[in-house]
Amino acid sequence: MDEETTVEDLPGVGPATAEKLKEAGFDDLMSIAVSSPSALVEAAEIGEATAVKIIAAAKKLANVGGFVTGDVIMENRRHISKLLTGSKALDELLGGGIETCAITEFFGEFGSGKTQITHQLCVNVCRPEEDGGLNGHTIFIDTENTFRPERIVQMAMAYELDATSVLQTIHVARAFNSHHQMLLIDKAKEIAKEFPIKLLIMDSLTAHFRAEYIGRGSLADRQQKLNKHLHAILQFADINKSAVAVTNQVSAKPDAFFGDPTRAIGGHVLGHTSTFRLYLRKSKGNRRIARLIDSPNLPEGEAVFTVSEDGVRD
Ligand code: GTP
Ligand code: MG
Repeated sequence: MDEETTVEDLPGVGPATAEKLKEAGFDDLMSIAVSSPSALVEAAEIGEATAVKIIAAAKKLANVGGFVTGDVIMENRRHISKLLTGSKALDELLGGGIETCAITEFFGEFGSGKTQITHQLCVNVCRPEEDGGLNGHTIFIDTENTFRPERIVQMAMAYELDATSVLQTIHVARAFNSHHQMLLIDKAKEIAKEFPIKLLIMDSLTAHFRAEYIGRGSLADRQQKLNKHLHAILQFADINKSAVAVTNQVSAKPDAFFGDPTRAIGGHVLGHTSTFRLYLRKSKGNRRIARLIDSPNLPEGEAVFTVSEDGVRD
C-alpha cells in the first residue's frame, strides 16, 4: 500500500466525510476496504451507492479483495505467527499455539480456566519470539472485572520476568455494557498506533450480550450485533497482525434459551467467525481438558493441561 494515500484521496470523500469516517475509526484505507457498505453509511451519513464506491476504491488502493491463487495465500500465511499458551499439549492441539490474524475462542463453564488462559497469554505475548512470545503488548477488554494484576505478577515471576515491566505492556479497559464493549474496539485501534499490540483479549465476549438481550424476540438483534462486533475484532487482528483470544461461558446444565451446554452461546454467528474454538472442561484437581472444535485446518482432538500458581502448564 502506498504510504502517501489517505482516506481523503478516495473518490467521493470530501473533508467533512473524511472527518466523520475518522471519528468512527475508519482512519486508513484498510479499515474502509474491509468494511461493509452499511457500516460506512452509518458512520459517515452517506448514501449506500457512495459507500459501495468508496469501499471499492479503498480495496483497489489498499490492494485487497479479488481472487488470488493458493500459492499466494500460502505465502501470506507464512507471516502468521503462533503464540504459546504455556502448555505444550494445548499448543500441539492448536497446531503450534494461538494464531495471529485469527480469533481463538475458549468456551466452557465457570472455573474451567478461560480467564486463567487469558492472563497467561498476556504474559507470554510480551516475551521474545525465541521464548514463544510475539514481543508485543496486550489489549485486555474486561467485561466482568476479572483482570487480576496479582495473577500476572505470579505468572511473570514463574518465568523470572520483571513483573512491573510485564504489567506495563497490558492495556486494560472495563466494558460496562455491550455497546461500550463494541466502542472499545475503536479505542483499541488508536492504542495500536502507539504500541505494538500483538494480542487482544475479550473476557468475556458474550456476557453483556447475554445479559442484555433476553428472550426469543431479541435473538436476531443480538446475533446481528455480535456479528458486527466479531467482524470489527477480526479486522483489528488483520490490521495489527495480532492474536485474539475471546471467552464465552456455557452453563453446566442445559437452559431453555441457550440450549445444549456444550454449545457456546454465540450460536452460528460465533461458530463461523472464530477460527479456532476450544471447549474447556474441569477434570480432577487442577487438571483441565480442552477439546478443539471446528478448526479449518486441524484435526479435532483433546489436550489435558493444568492451572497452578505458576500459570497454565502441562
Ligand atoms: P468464569 O469466568 O466464571 O466462567 O470461569 P473461568 O473459566 O474464567 O475460570 P478461571 O479461569 O477463573 O479459573 C478459575 C480456576 O483456576 C480456579 O477455580 C482454580 O482452580 C484455578 N486458579 C486460579 N488461580 C489460581 C492460583 O493462583 N493457583 C492455582 N493453583 N489455581 C488457580
Ligand atoms: Mg472468567
